Amino acid sequence: MSMETTAWTQLHSVLYAQQEQRPLARATLRRIGAFARPHRRRIVRFVALGVVTALLAVATPVLAGRVVDAIVSRGDQGTVVRLALLIALIAVAEAALGILGRRLSATLGEGLILDLRTAVFDHVQRMPVAFFTRTRTGALVSRLNNDVIGAQRAFSNTLSGVVGNVVTLLLTLAVMLTLSWQVTLLALVLLPVFVVPARRMGRRMARMQREAATLNAAMSTRMTERFSAPGATLVKLFGRPEEESAQFAARAARVRDIGIRTATAQSAFITALTLVSSLALALVYGLGGWLALRGTLEPGAVVSLALLLTRLYAPLTALAGARVEIMSALVSFERVFEVLGLKPLIEEKPDAREVPDGPVSVEFDGVRFAYPAADKVSLASLEEVASLDGGDGTEVLHGISFRAEPGQTVALVGPSGAGKSTIAQLLPRLYDVDEGAVRIGGTDVRDLSTASLRATVGMVTQDGHLFHDTVRANLLLARPTAGDEELWEALRRARLDDLVRLLPDGLDTVVGERGYRLSGGERQRLTIARLLLARQRVVILDEATAHLDNVSEAAVQEALTEALHGRTALVIAHRLSTVRAADLILVVEAGRIVERGTHDELLAAGGRYARLYRTRFAPQPERSSQRPAQPVP
Ligand SMILES: Nc1ncnc2c1ncn2[C@@H]1O[C@H](COP(=O)(O)OP(=O)(O)O)[C@@H](O)[C@H]1O
Ligand SMILES: [Mg+2]
Repeated sequence: MSMETTAWTQLHSVLYAQQEQRPLARATLRRIGAFARPHRRRIVRFVALGVVTALLAVATPVLAGRVVDAIVSRGDQGTVVRLALLIALIAVAEAALGILGRRLSATLGEGLILDLRTAVFDHVQRMPVAFFTRTRTGALVSRLNNDVIGAQRAFSNTLSGVVGNVVTLLLTLAVMLTLSWQVTLLALVLLPVFVVPARRMGRRMARMQREAATLNAAMSTRMTERFSAPGATLVKLFGRPEEESAQFAARAARVRDIGIRTATAQSAFITALTLVSSLALALVYGLGGWLALRGTLEPGAVVSLALLLTRLYAPLTALAGARVEIMSALVSFERVFEVLGLKPLIEEKPDAREVPDGPVSVEFDGVRFAYPAADKVSLASLEEVASLDGGDGTEVLHGISFRAEPGQTVALVGPSGAGKSTIAQLLPRLYDVDEGAVRIGGTDVRDLSTASLRATVGMVTQDGHLFHDTVRANLLLARPTAGDEELWEALRRARLDDLVRLLPDGLDTVVGERGYRLSGGERQRLTIARLLLARQRVVILDEATAHLDNVSEAAVQEALTEALHGRTALVIAHRLSTVRAADLILVVEAGRIVERGTHDELLAAGGRYARLYRTRFAPQPERSSQRPAQPVP
């Protein structure tokens, strides 16, 4: 609990510190402008509509004054009826324009949401894997949902509020001044009482808004993390549910507190504004009535002035509120732009090339690599930490060089943490090397087009990920055009066809989030089927058969051997059968290749591989042969 509290204090100090440093930037406004530009014709129409509405709004009070004057001066009845009809007509027109305006602003607003969302989605998708390993999914999703909607709401409210109200305000003031400058000036005496607190409130509300957004994100982060199948399993096994609940309750309580504070502040603000305008109304009746009794003002003018005053303070209230909304709009926009502003570390070159046809070689040439430091790939606010570690990470690979000729299989063995998976991830360019080069078919992977690289390199990892979707959809990811025949063929070769046939909906069975309704081995075989379907020329197997039992491994191994035929392969193996067949075996330790050669060469050399072979791979004595084969750690 106390750790949680410290975390919160930290979070808050970050929040506030950021606010102090960050002026609501002009750059933000420029970027909003860029997003609004495609909608400029709609915006113009919207503004025109606002002007017409404002004109109509001023007309009614003036007409009402005329009616009063007609009554007082005992004028003719026809005039009164005509004036009343005109007022009715205006009311109908106002209603119609209101609906039209709302429709227009909704079109604008929803259009903006669409633009922002797709922009964020596209951008986030282009981020390197390093970004996702650091970012909390909940925080990111909250950016896409809450902040985008917040930005839109504030944007369209601001637009409709500001434009219409500024025009109404000016027109109303002008008409009031022509009716009686004394009454108008007196009514305006209370204006500063109005504007000054409004400014202060605006700032305060923006602060609360920002805090609320962060708190909401923290809450949804916790939910997405705890409610995923692996997260929930972890809590069941290790977690203390009471503590989990208490921590969640603490977060939710903070959301409640800020909600109450915002609501209270908002209503106090509105009430104060209403009170001020009522007081001003009393002044108008007082002074106007006095002037009318002295005969210097028409009675109708007093009525018009009083009615106009209510129309004066309404736009003022709205404009004061608009300040608040502009502030929160900027906050939401900032939070969205913050994500859009992250530069993807790995990008396709403008003159990117294709991988040459036919079987290709794979070459690592003096590769040095450190996982990128957090501040290069992520945002503190998405990780919920106070600050990101900067500088360069510790080097994980210290000069890796080897070459796999077209069609050859290279096996990597070595202790856990040696850097085998890291080497594998450099090939499909999940990360870029710091020094040296990784080449496919003689071309540096950094010079290849993303599409070509993806079509060339396939990878199966230990924890093969499946989308929460049907078996078919998960397979089609690899080859969108594949027909059912091909799908079944791939499943058969991965020794999974019998199982899929038994599933309630066959190929159309949804495999749960992370493929949870399948066992580890079945999930792995499905990812292998996906690999077989994709038919990439370079294949990486990172402990791809780790979850399989002996029987299914033997079966899948056959399929893999078949699949690897004619392909260049990088195999991180933990079983002897795969390693022995490799054309080249590399023993990796602490980021270096410490031994290399074929199985026989390395055994004869009597070094680390030979030791590894004796302790891990060697046939087990009869007694333990029933147990699953020992993996190389
Ligand atoms: N995403 C990552 N960020 C930072 N360091 C990492 C990351 N993944 C792995 N490492 C580190 O890199 C080293 C090599 O890891 P890895 O390549 O996964 O080893 P292996 O696959 O041989 O078990 C380890 O020290 C590990 O802690
Ligand atoms: Mg590994």
